[in-house]
Amino acid sequence: MQKKSLFIKACEKKNDDRPPVWIMRQAGRYLPEYRRVREKHDFISMCQNPELAAEVTLQPIRRYAMDAAILFSDILVIPQALGSPLRFEENKGPVFDKPIRNPKDLEQWKENEAIENLSYVYKAIKYTKESLGDTPLIGFSGAPFTVAAYLVEGYVQKRFQVIKSMIFENPTFLKQIMDVLCETTIAHLNNQIKAGVDAIQIFESWANHLSCEDWKTFSYYYIEKIIKGLDNPENIPVIVFSKGSHFLLPHLKPTSADVLSLDETCPMLDMAKTIHKSVALQGNFDPALIYASPKIIEKKVNEHLVKMKNFKGYIVNLGHGLLPDMDPEHVKVFVETVKSF
Ligand code: CP3
Repeated sequence: MQKKSLFIKACEKKNDDRPPVWIMRQAGRYLPEYRRVREKHDFISMCQNPELAAEVTLQPIRRYAMDAAILFSDILVIPQALGSPLRFEENKGPVFDKPIRNPKDLEQWKENEAIENLSYVYKAIKYTKESLGDTPLIGFSGAPFTVAAYLVEGYVQKRFQVIKSMIFENPTFLKQIMDVLCETTIAHLNNQIKAGVDAIQIFESWANHLSCEDWKTFSYYYIEKIIKGLDNPENIPVIVFSKGSHFLLPHLKPTSADVLSLDETCPMLDMAKTIHKSVALQGNFDPALIYASPKIIEKKVNEHLVKMKNFKGYIVNLGHGLLPDMDPEHVKVFVETVKSF
């Protein structure tokens, strides 16, 4: 059997070495080699072309040799595959021109075609695995609330007025949408597992917009349902990134996740002391640290790693993703500081 990577060992809380490191949005516009591919192809075409998706997944690994790769794709490919046309607009982000706001809008969906429409993702996983060597590959999906937010809003404005109104005015309909997203997500992740991913991450990027009560109903409930629905014969680790909500977790039964990815507002060390027994932790450097000078990056990373030294289930990451204007050389310092710890 292949020797387990640092990343998988840390997910299993059995890592005695330095912590592994990867970064959310590590494949993206801050990399000149990404921008060169992107000049010739739009983002959606890149996701849908398995060779290009594999190539872009590998770019940060070639440059920095992170301890895990994350598949190049998007959380919004699910509603797109269900039948909601998706486009990305410069300076606006993802846009659904036919948002789902009432039961009639659901007629655009063909639930039984979604997985077939997503077959390019599973091909991209196979191609990526062929070139990745021993580096583990993370597959992913969005959590239903975050995906539904884009879908019902049309595009995400700061206030989330459409989805927040729906929570109060028509929670049954919102749940009907989320139930379909949830079932499709389970099938999508199961196919990613079959295609060979080594771990799964579920992104709940907008959990911070939910009240405590609604978080249980619209976020926690669905994330649990997804994890329980996985057909995961080799028990690959499941990571949950639920931005802005981890203060809630110690008060509730922790999710069935193997790893919680914390954002930068969480006290990592306190969380490690309180919940590390039941779950591994990932995160949570302030993404803005990458804007700081290499000297400061090195100092901050080393200081934090000293504090986290005794935890066998710790994975270094940012509290959220890299941004397009970040300096690739600073990313290098961040990764290399961890790797030489
Ligand atoms: O490197 C990686 O992390 C893997 C690939 C990945 C992308 N998106 C690539 C991408 C992953 C895991 C995602 C997840 C994703 N997509 C999330 C959850 C994580 C998060 O960051 O909160 C969300 C909310 C989305 C939806 C989405 N897709 C947004 C908000 C955007 C940015 C829009 C913009 O213009 O800033 C995207 C586009 C996107 N997804 C890009 C990339 C590399 C940029 C596309 C481009 O080249 O123009």
